[in-house]
Amino acid sequence: MSAPSIVILTGAGISAESGLGTFRDEGGLWAQHRIEDVATPEGFARNPQLVVDFYNARRAQAADANPNAAHMALARLQAEHAGSVTLVTQNVDDLHEKGGSVDVIHMHGALNSALCATCEHRWPAPLAMSVGQDCPYCTGPTARPDIVWFGEIPYHMERIERALANADVFVAIGTSGNVYPAAGFVQMARHVGAETIEINLEPGENVGLFDDVRAGKASETVPNWVAEVLAG
Ligand code: APR
Repeated sequence: MSAPSIVILTGAGISAESGLGTFRDEGGLWAQHRIEDVATPEGFARNPQLVVDFYNARRAQAADANPNAAHMALARLQAEHAGSVTLVTQNVDDLHEKGGSVDVIHMHGALNSALCATCEHRWPAPLAMSVGQDCPYCTGPTARPDIVWFGEIPYHMERIERALANADVFVAIGTSGNVYPAAGFVQMARHVGAETIEINLEPGENVGLFDDVRAGKASETVPNWVAEVLAG
């Protein structure tokens, strides 16, 4: 019997214990900022300085943050599990990579990347981006944070759907199940008969779709789950 293929989806909750605020928890980012203003193309067109400042602040915070035991446990799983492990994250921080994970699929973009709105060239973002920054490729003054905003199509969807179609196990960690298409992955995994597990501080919006629900802090629950998988 070959080792199971595992697809993991992480959300803001996995980085909460590293000091990075989540979006929808009490006092979260969306309690402090209007989505329309800082996370839509329309908001960027209306007030680019507000948007650039928002992501500059998050980039600086993420640069000072360290991975926690949950990030490191997933890196261990990737390194030691005999079957395939596909790690998809909705997070734009680089704590999975800092924790030792490789080939992390950032479906909502990354704080460390800048994108040209004209030619779609990407390059490493400076710690502080500026409005009207030039693209190093087409020289257009149209640099923007390389973040997937509401109303835009997430990245790497074909690759994610392929992994889900071949999954034996699907695990959602630290995500509230509010935002699609990510919140629909559990349904896609169920469709192919995969075992589905939710690991979260509180039950997510789509908790009823999971076979196994584990409540608790990611830094405790994720290492326990990884140890279980590796023990076979
Ligand atoms: N351990 C485990 N889970 C936690 C922890 C923790 N220490 N702290 C919080 N959580 C859980 C919360 O219970 C909540 O269900 O993490 C979840 C965070 O939910 P959201 O703030 O909604 O974040 P997320 O699901 O990642 O948001 C999805 O929405 O705003 C957009 O693009 C943004 O990628 C983001 C997407």
